[in-house]
Amino acid sequence: MDEADMRADLEKVLIPEEELQAKIRELAAEIDRDYEGRELLLVGVLKGAVMVMADLARALHTPISMDWMAVSSYGSGTKSSGVVRILKDLDADIMGRDVLIVEDIVDSGLTLSWLRSNLESRGPASLEVCTLLRKPDAAKIEVGVRYIGFDIPNEFVIGYGLDYSERYRNLPFVGTLAPHVYGGSGEQEA
Ligand code: XMP
Ligand code: MG
Repeated sequence: MDEADMRADLEKVLIPEEELQAKIRELAAEIDRDYEGRELLLVGVLKGAVMVMADLARALHTPISMDWMAVSSYGSGTKSSGVVRILKDLDADIMGRDVLIVEDIVDSGLTLSWLRSNLESRGPASLEVCTLLRKPDAAKIEVGVRYIGFDIPNEFVIGYGLDYSERYRNLPFVGTLAPHVYGGSGEQEA
């Protein structure tokens, strides 16, 4: 698959690169204000959050460390079920630390609410969440997301870390997939 094929699979660009980058800078400024004088542990959720993590970390002035978790939630195709499995756990002990979970997208919120209570049980000094994107279902329930980049419509999105069958993560913008590409079922990795 070459770049032209990849772009042919796109339906539309939902959030252009410049808007993403401007929003990341805004979120970073807000986080810097909130954590002034403290040190943060950013916990990125693999693999989707790699781009947000890389850009957010560089936009922050607050001293940070990075750690990563990989989780997988069973579901049918593009819907998660809330049954979560840890594929890779944190390297760090988060007891007594200020922790910020960095997510690409919150859809039903099931993955995040599981992750939140899992990390909360490890005794961090504080635990907050930053997500670049939020879908309408998650907006309806209280999952405790402090920093939100964009509320988006209930469409499957790709790019800027988000994949369909592991593809399209490297697109610098967020877009929607043309219906002809769409389908499949099974276990989905974040
Ligand atoms: P829940 O429903 O538990 O889902 O909040 C969170 C995880 O589901 C994946 N997800 C998506 N991945 N485009 C993607 O590439 C999407 O539109 C999308 N919606 C949900 C994602 O892994 C997220 O962490
Ligand atoms: Mg995914």
